[in-house]
Amino acid sequence: MKRGNSKTRTVSASRHNGNDLARKVRSGEFKIAVYGLGHVGSPLASAWLHAGAHVIGVDKSPRVLENARKGRTHVPEPGVNEAFTKGLKDKHFLIYDDPIKASQDSYLKMICVPVLLTDSFSADLAAVKQVASAIAHGLKKGDVVSLNPSVPPGTSEDVILPILEKASGLKVEQDFYMIYNPERIYEGRAIEDIEERYPAIMSGAGPKSLEVGSRLYSMIAKKGVIRISNMRTAETEKLLEGVYRDVNIALANEMAKFCEKIGVDFWEARDAANSQPFSHIHKPGAGVGGACIPVYPQFILHTADIQKVECNLTRLGRNVNDSMPAYCVDQAVRLLDGADVSRSTVTLLGLAFRGGVSDTRLSPTYKVIEELKKLGVKEIRIHDPLVSSDPNLSQDVILTSSLPQAIKGADLIILVADHPEYRSLAQEKLGGIPVYDGRGILDKLKFSGRFASIGKPS
Ligand SMILES: NC(=O)c1ccc[n+]([C@@H]2O[C@H](COP(=O)([O-])OP(=O)(O)OC[C@H]3O[C@@H](n4cnc5c(N)ncnc54)[C@H](O)[C@@H]3O)[C@@H](O)[C@H]2O)c1
Repeated sequence: MKRGNSKTRTVSASRHNGNDLARKVRSGEFKIAVYGLGHVGSPLASAWLHAGAHVIGVDKSPRVLENARKGRTHVPEPGVNEAFTKGLKDKHFLIYDDPIKASQDSYLKMICVPVLLTDSFSADLAAVKQVASAIAHGLKKGDVVSLNPSVPPGTSEDVILPILEKASGLKVEQDFYMIYNPERIYEGRAIEDIEERYPAIMSGAGPKSLEVGSRLYSMIAKKGVIRISNMRTAETEKLLEGVYRDVNIALANEMAKFCEKIGVDFWEARDAANSQPFSHIHKPGAGVGGACIPVYPQFILHTADIQKVECNLTRLGRNVNDSMPAYCVDQAVRLLDGADVSRSTVTLLGLAFRGGVSDTRLSPTYKVIEELKKLGVKEIRIHDPLVSSDPNLSQDVILTSSLPQAIKGADLIILVADHPEYRSLAQEKLGGIPVYDGRGILDKLKFSGRFASIGKPS
C-alpha cells in the first residue's frame, strides 16, 4: 500500500479553527485537488482559485490536461479561462496526470467525475470508484475527501467510503474526513452559482467531517452552508431537486398537449397560473436532456426497485418526457400537408440539450433524429450556434452553424433547443418553410404560413 509523503499530518483537521484552516489553504500548505475538470470541476476549481487556494487539477483526458496547462477549458463556462490563466501565472494552479500523486500532495480532494446511467438505467459508478481508489492510495491522516456528483442514496457511505478506508488503511472520522457536497450549478453561470447564488449543501461521514467540510465550503460559498445530518439525506436532497423538475416538466407537457386539443394557449394560461405564489408550472418542450434532470429520477427509480417501493409518479414523469421527441415529430410532419416524408429534408434547430449551452449530453435532438429516421426522411440537417462538431452523429446527418446553409431547400424546420438566437426568427428569415416550434419560443404573429408550436392551438 502506498502511503502519503513526508508531510503526513497527525493533527486533526477538525481541530483547526476556521481562520487557521483558511490561512493554510491560502498559503498553499493545504492544497485542493479537483478530480475531473469538466462542467462541475472547472468552475469549482475556479472558485477555489478565486478564494486564494492552491489548486491541483486532475483529469484522465490528455486533451483536458493540455488545455488546462494553457489556461483553457473545453467547458464554455464564463470566468473559468480567466481563473485558470491567473492561477497558472500566480503558480496557484498545478496540473497533474497522476491521480495518486495529486492525492499525496493535497489536503482536500474533490471527486467531480461523471456518474451517468448504465444501459440498464442504474448508476454508472465506474469513474467515481476509480478516482476514490487512486485518492485512497495517496490519502494521509487529516485529509478530507469530498464526493460531488449526484448519486443514488447510500453511494457515499456504502460504496465510496469502503474503498477509501480499505485501500488507505485509514479510518474515517478518526484519521481522515469524508464529505458529500452535491453541486447545484446551472450551466452557463456555474461559478456565480457556487460563489454567490446558493448555499452549499454539506454532509459528512460524522460530526468531525461535517464540521471541517462546513468550514472549508464557507470559504467559497458566500451564502454559507446548509448542514445536513448525514450523507444519504444530502444525496437524496440533490435527487429531489431533479425529480421535482422532471415531474413538473412532465405535467407541463401533459397540460400543453391538453390545451392544444381544446384550443387554448397553454403559455398564456401558464403565465397567469404562475402569478399565484403556489403555482410553479415549468415549460413544456421537445424533450428533457442533459446529464442531470433525465438521470436523477432513474437513480431514484433504480433504488426504489431494489427497496420495493412504488414511485409511480416519478416513473410516469420520465415516460411522459421521453415521449416528447416522438410527439413533436408527429406534430411537425403534419405540416408537410401529406407530402411524401421520404422525399423531405428536415432541418433541426439546436443540438445542445437546451438553449445557451454547447452541452449535447442526452440531448432530445438525438431522439428527434431517431424518429425522423424511422419515418425514412430523405435528409436531416442540424443547425446549432454553439456546437460545431459531434462524434455521436452519423455521417448522413449534416451539422452546421450557418442558418442559411441549414435551411436551404429544406421542407420542414423543427426547433428543438431554445437557443436565444432563435427567439427573434420570423417567417422570411426561415425562407417561408413550414416550422414546428418544439419549445414555444417563436412569435406566432411572425408566421402566417404553416406553423405550429407546442402548447399553442393550431
Ligand atoms: N453538468 C452539470 O450542470 C451538473 C450540475 C450538477 C451536478 N452535476 C454532477 O456532476 C457530475 C460531473 O458532471 P460534469 O458535467 O462535470 O461532467 P463532465 O463530463 O463535464 O466532466 C467530467 C470530467 O471528468 C473527467 N474524468 C472522467 N473520468 C475520469 C477519471 N476516472 N479520472 C479522472 N478524470 C476523469 C473527464 O475527462 C471530464 O473532463 C455529473 O455526473 C452530475 O452528477 C453536473
